[in-house]
Amino acid sequence: MKHDLKDTPFARAGARLRDALQAGSRGVGLRAVDEARAVRLCEDVGERLDWPVHTWSAAGGRDGLGAPEPLVDLLRGLLRDPDPGLWVLLDPPPLEPVALRALRELAQRSVGPAVVVVGDLAPALVATPELELVDLELPDADELAGLAADLVDELRIAGRPGPAAALDRRAPQLTRAALGLSEHQARRLLRRAAHASDDAVALAELGAGKAELLRRGGLLERVEPVPSDMLGGLAQLKQWLARRALALRPEARAAAIPDPRGVLLVGVQGCGKSLAARVCAHALGLGLLRLEPGRLYGGTLGESEANLRRVTETVERIAPVALWIDELDKGLAGSEGPASDAGTAARVLGGLLTWLQERRRPVFVVATANQVSRLPPELTRRGRLDEIFFVDLPDADERAAIAEIHLEHAPRSHMGAAPVLADPLPDLVALVRAADGLSGAEIEGAIVEARLDAFAESRPLARVDLARALTATVPLSRSRAGEIAALRAWASAAARRA
Ligand SMILES: Nc1ncnc2c1ncn2[C@@H]1O[C@H](COP(=O)(O)OP(=O)(O)O)[C@@H](O)[C@H]1O
Ligand SMILES: [Mg+2]
Repeated sequence: MKHDLKDTPFARAGARLRDALQAGSRGVGLRAVDEARAVRLCEDVGERLDWPVHTWSAAGGRDGLGAPEPLVDLLRGLLRDPDPGLWVLLDPPPLEPVALRALRELAQRSVGPAVVVVGDLAPALVATPELELVDLELPDADELAGLAADLVDELRIAGRPGPAAALDRRAPQLTRAALGLSEHQARRLLRRAAHASDDAVALAELGAGKAELLRRGGLLERVEPVPSDMLGGLAQLKQWLARRALALRPEARAAAIPDPRGVLLVGVQGCGKSLAARVCAHALGLGLLRLEPGRLYGGTLGESEANLRRVTETVERIAPVALWIDELDKGLAGSEGPASDAGTAARVLGGLLTWLQERRRPVFVVATANQVSRLPPELTRRGRLDEIFFVDLPDADERAAIAEIHLEHAPRSHMGAAPVLADPLPDLVALVRAADGLSGAEIEGAIVEARLDAFAESRPLARVDLARALTATVPLSRSRAGEIAALRAWASAAARRA
């Protein structure tokens, strides 16, 4: 980067790599999301040390010349080479024993050429404890600003003063919105934003491009926050959120009030935990990213940990933000679900807990769980999350509130007007108020069912339709009474009623 900056993730990783090499390390594992950026880092360091820099990949061979060369031949050649140099191995495949041994012997030396492994490090790392680790994190705001300034220069030189001026003007907003992207992705989206018709379009396009890239990454998904009047009941949670929102005000820092850390919502299925997670983000004025923990688990050794790292790094870059970890109990269960390997599940959970403890940036975590039996006790320890809320079946007043939301409030806010009813709204609400044992999801389901019945007969929704649909609903609370009783018993000692 021409606009060189001293204290960026790139500069820090460069300093770490240079120090390691100068101190005699000859084997380095460079953990980076963005390969091109990792190569550039090595070139930068090579230039400063006056060492030649070469790359190797399985497809491109040496320096991308295209003549494939077995890695073992390269490594054995390097063992005979006395001169310093930097060999960047891009995505090395799992190493066979002789190659592995050569890598270890190289890494044990303190003179001659150094090997930098870039890519899926796990297989190489497990076998090569001598490798020194260097993390190249995603670009921060300063680095992205430098990147934008470079692009402005490029556009000017290319004789495109219009887009250059547009990008220059939009850069502060765009770079803030690009946080969490890799350098490569940010460069592409910034270049496109330079050509957008106006400033608002540029920002919207970049936001959409970022959401798409996160989704394609397969781990994180942007989710729209929901205002709290779409959630019936859960008054304690709402009250708690309103107070926590104060802690996010700039003045709060001066008053020594720490950033809110997050909540765990445990409780009965269909009672609004997922909805509440979206309400949390809205109440705190934060964007929301959803992580399904099950997606963390990857096939090869170390992939799950690498995924977790990618998630936490991305989220910290985007912070302040809310991170919703949905159905934590499912994803982290040792015996069921995607994490069939209990060891991996435990390691990923350990990593997640460590991050919860040590995260440096304001990330508000909302974790939801249907069951407590599988949740690790460490999760509920102080300092990790602020509070545990128990989401119980709605009581009569709460059912009435939920009915009003789905009969009146939700359609009005989605379509501008609620559909006409054949009977007064309070009459319909009273039916739901009396429907003991139903969850929020079941109430919503019954209303949809009743609407459909009325619609099939080309008339507005009436009391009888809803009465019929409610009677036909067999609540989960009846078939799972034992489970719910156990959950309540746990909650009375360990959680706050939401
Ligand atoms: N308290 C509630 N207020 C309003 N709607 C609710 C409530 N609880 C559940 N619902 C409705 O049921 C749907 C499913 O609930 P969800 O939040 O997914 O439950 P959970 O995550 O606890 O299983 C919600 O999207 C919403 O439409
Ligand atoms: Mg849910």
